Amino acid sequence: MAKLECEIAGIKMKNPVMVASGTFGYGEEVSKFVDLDKLGAIVTKTITLEPREGNPPPRIVETASGMLNSIGLQNKGIKDFIEHRLPFLAKFKTPVIANIAGDSASEYAKLAKMLNEESAIKGIELNISCPNVTKGGMFFCFDPKATAELVKTVRKETSLPLIVKLSPNVTDITLIAKEAEAAGADAISLINTLLGMSIDIEKKTFSLANKTGGLSGPAIKPVALRMVYQVAQAVKIPVIGIGGIMTGNDAIEFFLAGASAIQVGTANFVDTQAPIRIVKEIKDYLKAQKIANYLDLLLLLK
Ligand code: FUM
Repeated sequence: MAKLECEIAGIKMKNPVMVASGTFGYGEEVSKFVDLDKLGAIVTKTITLEPREGNPPPRIVETASGMLNSIGLQNKGIKDFIEHRLPFLAKFKTPVIANIAGDSASEYAKLAKMLNEESAIKGIELNISCPNVTKGGMFFCFDPKATAELVKTVRKETSLPLIVKLSPNVTDITLIAKEAEAAGADAISLINTLLGMSIDIEKKTFSLANKTGGLSGPAIKPVALRMVYQVAQAVKIPVIGIGGIMTGNDAIEFFLAGASAIQVGTANFVDTQAPIRIVKEIKDYLKAQKIANYLDLLLLLK
């Protein structure tokens, strides 16, 4: 049996298949269909300091081989998460990684400090790449120095592993990744969604009320793979690949490109069993190829 157990940025996982933020809620609804204990890790929907209503609807539209979303970080805030969502997730053996966002570095830092007290949280993913909000979010990922300052500020408030989630909407993603690493990040996850637009030709208006949204799904996989490969060459910390992963073979491509783990996102909307099926498909590939440990794939790209 090929080895899938791994430790990414100090987080022990039974397999390298995580579920991506914003595609799995806080696990409770999905747990009716999916055995959460079979997942590598659960990344929560983004949590902010105060509750947010998000953007007005419509805020999701299907596109060719993908979807656009402009949710706008809707969530009930950190207190609600700690009191009402985390106790459910804490019942499972699967590590919980809290995805957080703020309008300022001090908001990110406050969130990290609060999460540091929660034993059920095994890591923090800093969302500096949401394309659907006007403040905070992407401000930090456009400028390598702003990324570094943010990571340093948050690093002081928590000993939890810090994963920085990067945006593809930049000129050179490796510059941002290198600054995040130098500032104390333990891992990089990429890519968040690509900024896009859809127009309803019958109504002659934008499909999304926010006009623009983040594109995800198979349509973005080639872009994600290219960026994962570039970042994996540029940093020494682990890289977590995200972007249109629908099958085990997609995951294998990301491992070959240098990702130590992957996150399944849009596929969760199509098939609730996708992450578990992907684990099996990875195992099948490794068995057929006689590869003992999936991490060996990281060294095989010619
Ligand atoms: O709009 C949203 O809530 C999306 C978040 C993200 O892409 O990080």
